[in-house]
Amino acid sequence: MRVSNQEYRTVWNNVELNKVYMIDQTLLPFKFEIIELNSFEDTAKAIKDMIVRGAGAIGASAGYAMAQAFVQNSDLTFVTKAKQIIESTRPTAVNLFYATSKVFEAGLISVDNAIVMARSIADEDADSCKLIGEYGNDLIKNKQRILTHCNAGWLAFVDYGSALSPVYAAHKSGKEPFVYVDETRPRGQGARLTAWELNENKVEYRIIADNAAAFYMANGQIDMVITGADRIARNGDTANKIGTLEKAILAKEFDIPFYVAAPISTIDKESPSGDSFIIEERSDEELLYHDGPDEKGIMRKIRMASPGSKGLNPAFDVTPHKYINGFITNKGVLQANDLRNL
Ligand code: MRU
Repeated sequence: MRVSNQEYRTVWNNVELNKVYMIDQTLLPFKFEIIELNSFEDTAKAIKDMIVRGAGAIGASAGYAMAQAFVQNSDLTFVTKAKQIIESTRPTAVNLFYATSKVFEAGLISVDNAIVMARSIADEDADSCKLIGEYGNDLIKNKQRILTHCNAGWLAFVDYGSALSPVYAAHKSGKEPFVYVDETRPRGQGARLTAWELNENKVEYRIIADNAAAFYMANGQIDMVITGADRIARNGDTANKIGTLEKAILAKEFDIPFYVAAPISTIDKESPSGDSFIIEERSDEELLYHDGPDEKGIMRKIRMASPGSKGLNPAFDVTPHKYINGFITNKGVLQANDLRNL
């Protein structure tokens, strides 16, 4: 993706130096900075601190972190511990476990194999997202108004994105899509990251409050919903950013097609349904405080909630497959029944 006339991926590495680089998403949209990570411990911490976030980007980063660990010390005890540390960072995004397992297995053959596997996971992520864009574009008509939740754009993957990839493809083909961007409290990935991406790509959009979707749906102003996914069970139940479930229920009520866009690496083959998904519970600081730059550009944190109150902050919810009209994947637009056979 191009930022200020330069081509970027969300995360990449330098094999010779054993370093990982990523766009610091905690600073966006106010500052665009690249962070350099010198060890698997640093990369794991960057995943935990959400310097990188979004299912595919977490997966690619975890793969690179696993390869970094093999380069640091290929002793079995060391890399097994490293795998546990990386996997303890974010429990819901299945791409993380997909990547650590694949790089770990490759690394047991040789360190070089681990490095090659990490790179191929990142490339596969970008290629899959490009295909998601092509398949999803077929569903979008000229000037359609699409609601999206959270950020499932290129920042959430290595490139292109999942939910936003069809939007970019439609825009590129001259269709003029319009996007309603849910602000996505508590962290505001929609208002901060999706809005920034769409702005960079000159796609028409407006940020709306999370609780405004029913208003626009009831007024016939939303034609389609596309969200991403962090984990999809074999029956199609889908974990995605908190608030997705209520958008799906609303979409059904107002007869608006609701699509989930994700590469097939997001399908959790171990889970027959969403009942067993582990839902990450995040610090209530995300809910009680907001951060942003003051008039001098210095990042500040302000309290939004009544002093002394505590919050509850589940990061994801699970949308049952009955609310999902289709899955826009790198293998085409699929129905829940198709997922079992993949
Ligand atoms: O907690 P985050 O920001 O890592 O949330 C994950 C997500 O980005 C969303 O749930 C997204 O819609 C799906 S992942 C591409």
